[in-house]
Amino acid sequence: MSSLKTAFFCQNCGTHYPKWLGQCGSCKEWNTLVEEIIENPKKKSLGLSKSQTSSKPIKVTEIDTSNNPRLNLKDEELNRVLGGGVVPGSLILIGGEPGIGKSTLLLQISLLLNIRVLYVSGEESQQQIKRRADRINSNSESCFVLNETNVEKIIQHVNSIKPELIIIDSVQTLQTDTIDSSPGSVSQIKESTSHFLKYAKKTHLPVIMVGHITKDGGIAGPKILEHMVDVVLHFEGDRNHIYRILRSKKNRFGSTAEIGIYEMLSDGLKQVNNPSELLLSDNKEPLSGNAISATIEGIRPIMIEIQALVSTAVYGTPQRSTTGFNSKRLNMLLAVLEKKAGFNLGTKDVFLNITGGIKIEDPAIDLAVIAAILSSNINIPVPKGICFAAEIGLSGELRNISKIDQRINEAEKLGFKFLIVSKATKISKVPKKIKILQYSRIEDLIKNLFKERG
Ligand code: TYD
Ligand code: MG
Repeated sequence: MSSLKTAFFCQNCGTHYPKWLGQCGSCKEWNTLVEEIIENPKKKSLGLSKSQTSSKPIKVTEIDTSNNPRLNLKDEELNRVLGGGVVPGSLILIGGEPGIGKSTLLLQISLLLNIRVLYVSGEESQQQIKRRADRINSNSESCFVLNETNVEKIIQHVNSIKPELIIIDSVQTLQTDTIDSSPGSVSQIKESTSHFLKYAKKTHLPVIMVGHITKDGGIAGPKILEHMVDVVLHFEGDRNHIYRILRSKKNRFGSTAEIGIYEMLSDGLKQVNNPSELLLSDNKEPLSGNAISATIEGIRPIMIEIQALVSTAVYGTPQRSTTGFNSKRLNMLLAVLEKKAGFNLGTKDVFLNITGGIKIEDPAIDLAVIAAILSSNINIPVPKGICFAAEIGLSGELRNISKIDQRINEAEKLGFKFLIVSKATKISKVPKKIKILQYSRIEDLIKNLFKERG
């Protein structure tokens, strides 16, 4: 590999250096230097250069897409998140915390499909993969398992097995001969991905790759990885709970608003088609500290239960702890309650849980959080049959939220009697079975909530 020329490029300003440095001499940023190939005589051996010259400009009206339809993955949730199946020749990246179930999900679909699939793992042995297959009680004559990390060798096997789908677990274990650095390094990840990208585009084979994530939740490796691939999915959830959400962060062939919901059971991941029913606990009697929010995740309405516990602080500094909810947002809501509603929460511990360990990004959850906190604070349950959907502003006002009709439908379907929203929310069609209560400030909620009868 002595004929290979590499240099270190600053990812911030683009200056290049022959040797690695901690700080870029030009823009003074730290840790931005990354090794990249500048001259690569070996590249031709992959046979990729031909394909680049073979493409001729053609009229957009003449491009034929009819003979390569999307591949149906036989998993409704995944198909939906991808925008209706896998587009031929696309490169899909799935990121997620360790142990969340990325490998399980991909093995499951590999075994479910009755087309040839090559499942390449650099993380687990063939025996381990077989054991996992036994655990999820699934088997397939057309799924091939390969233990390999070298890109060139993987491509050789792909050429001989001729699969219709390639799965790579994970991109961080890949290593290509065209570059010297160790697997997992920025340049290895980038080069290996770019080989698969070219291969996928040339052969119209779809490739699904697993990506590890960093402490901050981004995909480990260069940012450019996410730009290179066609689809970026995130598999998230709390490892101690059974629910998992598959979100799309980028999709060149569909909407990023769709989400997929799964349950991790002892025999693999099961699709969840009716999330609201599962996420609401079936308490006959209402409990203090619980409130239900009509949220929208992606484009799916989900009724979700919020549990709050407010108790007198034992230690000097009150504790705030949240699961599935942004703790900064909680602090803001507590400050609003303190200022606008005269609640002295500064001396109280506040714990907040979203059932199922699901992380909700919808701001409409605010009002239910406030209701749960108030209810726990006075130890009186929120009356049965009430749900909430409004964002809270800094001056304690209830703010308008989107997609109100879908929220009303879902709440009505699940038998709720009242939905509390902001005065600013326009209700175009008055629903029959559910009453919409509209308040403008949280003071109105405090005055009326614990008097409403469900
Ligand atoms: P895994 O798919 O290995 O996660 P990742 O590839 O994202 O690191 O999932 C491992 C976890 O899932 C592990 O803690 C065990 C659990 N699990 C189940 O609960 N049920 C199952 O059927 C399987 C296969 C795994
Ligand atoms: Mg794994």
